[in-house]
Amino acid sequence: MDYTTQASAKFRALRDKESITILAIESSCDETACAITRGREVLANVISTQIDIHKLYGGVVPEIASRQHTLAIDSVVHQAFAQANMTVTDIDAVAVTYGAGLLGALLIGVSYAKAFAYANGLPLVAVNHIQGHIAAGYIAHPELVPPYIALVVSGGHTAILDVDDYTSFTVLGRTTDDACGEAFDKVARVLGLPYPGGPNVERLAAEGEVTIRFPRPFAGSEHLNFSYSGLKTAVINHVHGLKQKDEEINAADIAASFQFAALDMLIDNAVKAAKHKGLDTISVVGGVSANGYFRKKCADVAPNLKIRFLFPPKVLSTDNAAMIGAHAYYMIKAGKGLAGLELDANAALKMHEYYSSEK
Ligand code: KG4
Ligand code: ZN
Repeated sequence: MDYTTQASAKFRALRDKESITILAIESSCDETACAITRGREVLANVISTQIDIHKLYGGVVPEIASRQHTLAIDSVVHQAFAQANMTVTDIDAVAVTYGAGLLGALLIGVSYAKAFAYANGLPLVAVNHIQGHIAAGYIAHPELVPPYIALVVSGGHTAILDVDDYTSFTVLGRTTDDACGEAFDKVARVLGLPYPGGPNVERLAAEGEVTIRFPRPFAGSEHLNFSYSGLKTAVINHVHGLKQKDEEINAADIAASFQFAALDMLIDNAVKAAKHKGLDTISVVGGVSANGYFRKKCADVAPNLKIRFLFPPKVLSTDNAAMIGAHAYYMIKAGKGLAGLELDANAALKMHEYYSSEK
């Protein structure tokens, strides 16, 4: 039997299997990650971060990211097998992030996963990175079931989604320009903080006070979209203005004021979406959901609003492969996402899209 026939027969058979063990690979940006999952359970979660290398350049250098993935991927996969105390014979399917992200970086994971699946006669499941972030909620919260609102806040995306089902989403609101994480990274740069910007802005903000009222675009409007470009520009102009006048720059207060504005806007809109849909759960995912101030603020307003905010542990907020495995499980159960050796990376994949080989 050829690979394609064998893999699709196995894929179909998995739908009825009680426990599905998945080897998942993630390489969309600057973390090379491999996990072994079984349903919502994580048996191994290995992440090799490239932060120290990109820090030298003040941000992610795409070509360096691809090279580092090439160097790290095989050892990350071996570490995952060792952590789970498993061998390839325990694996039912291979899952990989095929978009969105840096093209060269994605291609390393996609190529590795294709070779691994082909060599071992296993079905290959193509996973959308953003849908993977949403699945981090399933690992962290065994009680979480659709429908609910997902607030996705990462370095490339900022959106409010109605999660209708495990593999079906409606986008209710999104950024019209920059992503929230991207704004954190740019503000960090303006304030002279090293990469990665988000955690460093959070650290500095904790030492400051909210003293500046930065603009909130679309505040008071009916729709649920955001804009971060205006906020980012306001912070840049504020810093430049002080420099020109030779006035003291209180970086901690600027960081605190920016963080307040950036996160307030998100919480307001997500709550509006939940009320509008009659839902009481908001699952907050993506790199920015690692922010401690964000977590505290949601916890503070939750009782009054009668909303349950769920945050994953920080290691599942930022990029990892466990979330890719968890989402692949639901894709398999829904009979979606089976990819063949033709699978290509898609840098600009939209967040509600999923892979289908049928054209
Ligand atoms: O989800 P993620 O790891 O990668 C993407 O899919 O983009 O998100 C990375 C983003 C970066 O912009 C980073 O600065 C931001 O998440 N981030 C944070 C924090 N930790 C990571 N932003 C604010 N506070 C944090 N603690
Ligand atoms: Zn991500």
